[in-house]
Amino acid sequence: MKKVILTGDRPTGRLHIGHYAGSLRNRVKLQNTGEYDIYILIADLQALTDNARNPKKIRESLIEVTLDYLSVGIDPDKSTIFVQSQVPELTELTSHYLNLVSLSRLKRNPTIKTEIKERGFEESVPVGFLTYPVSQAADITAFKANVVPVGDDQLPLIEQCKEIVHTFNAIYGDILVEPKAMLSDNKVCSRLPGIDGKAKMSKSLGNCIYLSDTKEEVSKKVMSMYTDPNHIKVEDPGNVENNPVFTYLEAFAEDKHFQKYLPEYKNLDELKAHYKRGGLGDVKIKKFLINVLEDILEPIREKRKYYEDNLDLVYKILEDGSKKARLVAQNTLKEVRDAIGLNYFDKK
Ligand code: TRP
Repeated sequence: MKKVILTGDRPTGRLHIGHYAGSLRNRVKLQNTGEYDIYILIADLQALTDNARNPKKIRESLIEVTLDYLSVGIDPDKSTIFVQSQVPELTELTSHYLNLVSLSRLKRNPTIKTEIKERGFEESVPVGFLTYPVSQAADITAFKANVVPVGDDQLPLIEQCKEIVHTFNAIYGDILVEPKAMLSDNKVCSRLPGIDGKAKMSKSLGNCIYLSDTKEEVSKKVMSMYTDPNHIKVEDPGNVENNPVFTYLEAFAEDKHFQKYLPEYKNLDELKAHYKRGGLGDVKIKKFLINVLEDILEPIREKRKYYEDNLDLVYKILEDGSKKARLVAQNTLKEVRDAIGLNYFDKK
């Protein structure tokens, strides 16, 4: 049997090149190995746990995220893209798992702790938000996923899922499968900084380059990027650390890009060495970065245009994917109900 992969995103906005470097690109690669059954979940219910008063944002982002998926090459014939809220079995599984987790354990989850702080919730944290790790465990176990490709911020959630699996299996028998997190092996790619040099690309900081940005937007953003503040004149020696232009090049530039756009250098090491020595201006490396990004983004934009012009098809993909995912989740839920003994009316 093929191994099962489950992963997903909260639909709270368009996806950016940080998502591409950190996860989307890898998903396409995994998909094209043909070695896995892949489920990609759009976690609208999870997104609602801290956006209950703004459902419009989630509804609109759902389609944006789907367009982003399709345009980077996630292929609905190979990967099942589905919507969390359209698989109600996940919600019932969540309610069974909620009985196996204590309040203090939920409050200790480091990811949740950070997120509560970031959102300023303090004691007013919505219960649904505090318990979303349990719902995420339902997402994962419903598909008996073996592998969950995620960023390192998600590790505490996978831990919590494993605990739920152990507890459940210990009480009710070996039904659930313990998942493994799959982390990106490339540190640079796993979290790209914003164009302002801040640690993280985030919509609220306005420092993202989106997959759906136009060529003009990308050029403008790159030209405005933060670099080494002490590299004032071209002759000055420059710093390539904490310099997001170099971080992006590290994530995206390949030797073929040098041959095509900057043949005076063989590779990034040579370019970095020159920058550190002095004599290499920011404008030159920024123009190169624009070319590299355009090489990647132009085909993505083209595909996006196709799907934007065929939105009925996009909704159909989500609907079909959700139906298919539902069949799998129904099976697991049946096993779970049987194991707990909630099958009073089944004929023997
Ligand atoms: N928590 C994930 C995020 O913030 C989204 C998500 C929901 C998820 N359910 C999942 C990721 C299951 C992996 C597996 O992006």
